Amino acid sequence: MKRYLVQTFGCQMNVHDSRRIEEVLEAAGWQATDESTLADLVLFNTCSVREKAEHKLRSAVGWLRPLKDERPGLVIAIAGCVAQQEGEQLLRDIPYVDLVLGPDNIPELPALVEAIRDGAPPIARTVFDLETPQFLHAHPRSDARRESSAFVTVMKGCDERCSFCIVPTTRGPERYRSADDIVSEVRALAQGGVHEVTLLGQTVNSWYEPTPGESAAPLELREKRRTASHFAGLLRRIAAEVPEVLRLRYTSPHPRHITPALIAAHAELAILPAHVHLPVQSGSDRVLKRMLRRYTAAEYLARARALQSARAGLTLSTDIIVGFPGETEEDFLETLALVRDVGFVAAFGFKYSPRPQTAALALGDDVPEDTKDDRLARLFALVEVQQRAHLASLVGTRSTVLVEGPSRDGGGRFAGRSERHEIVHVEPPAGVDPTGTLVTVEILAAFKHSLLGRMDGGVPIPDAPRTPKPRVHLGVLGGEGSES
Ligand code: SAH
Ligand code: F3S
Repeated sequence: MKRYLVQTFGCQMNVHDSRRIEEVLEAAGWQATDESTLADLVLFNTCSVREKAEHKLRSAVGWLRPLKDERPGLVIAIAGCVAQQEGEQLLRDIPYVDLVLGPDNIPELPALVEAIRDGAPPIARTVFDLETPQFLHAHPRSDARRESSAFVTVMKGCDERCSFCIVPTTRGPERYRSADDIVSEVRALAQGGVHEVTLLGQTVNSWYEPTPGESAAPLELREKRRTASHFAGLLRRIAAEVPEVLRLRYTSPHPRHITPALIAAHAELAILPAHVHLPVQSGSDRVLKRMLRRYTAAEYLARARALQSARAGLTLSTDIIVGFPGETEEDFLETLALVRDVGFVAAFGFKYSPRPQTAALALGDDVPEDTKDDRLARLFALVEVQQRAHLASLVGTRSTVLVEGPSRDGGGRFAGRSERHEIVHVEPPAGVDPTGTLVTVEILAAFKHSLLGRMDGGVPIPDAPRTPKPRVHLGVLGGEGSES
């Protein structure tokens, strides 16, 4: 029996890729293990968006060295963004690594691992599939790890080239997936018991129907098509054709592709949650310009307001970078002002981290570390206040919760997400297991990052499968931010 262990770093895109990696390996006869001592293959699916993420990888790989010395047959693989970025250099830097695999080369993994097990020298395979982009279908879990929530990729790569961001290098140019393909994956997941789908893409809302071979078309031509995004049409099509999907989320949209059609979709489609994660990065026009974000703070605010007016109670969360090169105290105060004006209920905050092959490298890294720390702390303090006020304002209201499984704190409670994405701990009537169903609750109390609700009636979903051991992890709503 061949056993594998996959360790994932980074964003939802990576979590999603790790699942495809597991599926590809399992189709080739591999079995999962949680024990590195039992594994024949250990694969790190990596993130390079900030330097700290890269350091984490290097120390994690370092832990395996004694194991590799003991069992030279153990295959150590590095996949994901660090793999794509560094390619063969990684094999030279960490000599006990056997395989370096780019995000587009996942289907080749089993054959490459077999080649190494048969004695081939270390391999680096990091080629983008530009001509005929492949999108691996997510398969619904049929075992005990069945889930009620799943991700579906609608595009890969990024052409925005924000000046701080390494993603366009590590994930390549934008490639879009056809609506038919997306809808058929959503349908298969829904038939397998999934009730919540999150559409994934680096600028997910620039989606449009691709034409064959167009990833080779000039950038200006593709830019025109992206600007005329058909994303709202895709949302409408999924809502109409796959009624089993009860919630349709998407992440992450780019502010410049929040079109009137998308705003209208939020007003009309009940399936869309009353929450959007809309990365802003900064509230200073001067900084936004140097980040090449292509909107002003006023334009961002106008779009945020339009979303908020489209659906009553719609909340927004965001990503913010502090300490971007040249960011002054005044710039940062403008960011705080925008955070207040928009009323974000959660934010991921990051200290600027210079990344290889990005335009911002030329701007230096002139904001001292302690200033970055100070700004991050002030940002989180403000978001925390807003988050608490928001959660407190919900006490006494009713909410619709998609229950994901038993609460981690035990005590017979269950946990899920509200229509706005808050974590809600649910007290069901005695003997009722609401896992995998949509229930209405009355909000009884607000905690620091979550809510408590009393279930007043389930909306049973016909043939809803139970989720014996849910693997959906309930992170906090944000606010704490993240410096992962
Ligand atoms: N469009 C992507 C963004 C990927 S990077 C998405 O779908 O979310 C996620 C976040 O990391 C960005 O929004 C940004 O806030 C942060 N980030 C990216 N590059 C960074 C850098 N060099 N330093 C600090 N934070 C960075
Ligand atoms: Fe990165 Fe900007 Fe694209 S943050 S992923 S270059 S939209």
